[in-house]
Amino acid sequence: MGERGSGCSWIWRLALILQLVGGIHSWGQEGHYATCKIAEEYLSEDAKAAVKELLPNSSHEDFASLCSWADEIRFHYHWSGALHYVDTPDFTCNYDYCRDCHDLHGHRDACVTGAIFNYTKQLEDTFQDSPMITTFNKTEALLFLLHFIGDVHQPLHVAFTGDEGGNTIIVHWYRRKANLHHVWDSMIIETALKAFYGNDLLFMIESINRNITNVWTNDLSDWKDCKSNQTVCPDPYASESIRLACKYAYKNATPGSTLHDEYFLSRLPIVEKRLAQGGVRLAATLNRIFSSRKKLAQA
Ligand SMILES: *[C@@H]1O[C@H](CO)[C@@H](O)[C@H](O)[C@H]1NC(C)=O
Ligand SMILES: *[C@@H]1O[C@H](CO)[C@@H](O)[C@H](O)[C@H]1NC(C)=O
Ligand SMILES: *[C@@H]1O[C@H](CO)[C@@H](O)[C@H](O)[C@H]1NC(C)=O
Ligand SMILES: *[C@@H]1O[C@H](CO)[C@@H](O)[C@H](O)[C@H]1NC(C)=O
Ligand SMILES: *[C@@H]1O[C@H](CO)[C@@H](O)[C@H](O)[C@H]1NC(C)=O
Ligand SMILES: [Zn+2]
Repeated sequence: MGERGSGCSWIWRLALILQLVGGIHSWGQEGHYATCKIAEEYLSEDAKAAVKELLPNSSHEDFASLCSWADEIRFHYHWSGALHYVDTPDFTCNYDYCRDCHDLHGHRDACVTGAIFNYTKQLEDTFQDSPMITTFNKTEALLFLLHFIGDVHQPLHVAFTGDEGGNTIIVHWYRRKANLHHVWDSMIIETALKAFYGNDLLFMIESINRNITNVWTNDLSDWKDCKSNQTVCPDPYASESIRLACKYAYKNATPGSTLHDEYFLSRLPIVEKRLAQGGVRLAATLNRIFSSRKKLAQA
């Protein structure tokens, strides 16, 4: 984490004057399952082999179902709670790693983008036989990475501090009371499953996959690329998320408002595209991580 931190001014601490405790932050199970299922389509043979090696259970369990592991253990691994999101100052529709990536106690790098750098580095070091090899549990590093690349694509995981990424904004989702964060984690997806996909998540994933090959074809290489040959690049994903949070998630969703068809139908395409981008980028990242091993071995 040293490299990331060194570019950051420590003045960011001044921004920590008043922060509220975060609530539940995460794409719901369906969102994470979809992200990983989409990623599976784009994994290289090397990455597939590495994933199989690190997640021994995935051979008899569905690999994508392990993508919610980080949520399942979050109360047991209390320290990991802050790693699911990153908050910007209130009403600030841009993201800045140095300013925003810290937890409530001011620990630098303790946020979703910091965690993505962290776990990528742990996996890379492992596969380059560095001395760090015994320091970390690489199975857990992979499980965290699978989950956090999903989370950083959920717009309200990169959102305002004061409302805890929408957790304290109470609205009605059709007739049900819900907080805005949960609407974006789960309810848009669940309503879509009922309305359009016969309650079949695999059918929804199939439709997203079809759009990746038919509609977003020209964007694919952009989605996959990291500038300057980096292995992983979560910062632009976080910048996209906060822009989408301002433009779509917060918009017309003030406390007490009722969200129905108009909100649902205009936001669903955003959610589906974020699941697509999350999946494609997760695969591209894993492909880069697990190809460095080969390069080194051949060198
Ligand atoms: C694999 O399965 C075992 C036994 O069911 C369980 O204890 C362990 O936590 C699982 N590992 C992962 C990474 O899910
Ligand atoms: C990095 O990973 C280690 C091992 O899981 C963890 O203890 C630490 O909190 C992580 N830090 C960040 C910023 O993700
Ligand atoms: C690594 O983490 C996994 C998942 O928590 C656990 O099942 C496994 O026992 C751990 N391995 C070691 C060597 O601690
Ligand atoms: C697929 O793309 C079309 C055209 O942009 C869009 O209307 C539709 O909502 C997308 N469906 C999914 C599942 O992404
Ligand atoms: C990225 O890597 C390729 C191939 O190794 C190299 O040709 C190119 O110059 C690199 N680009 C940057 C910006 O480092
Ligand atoms: Zn999460």
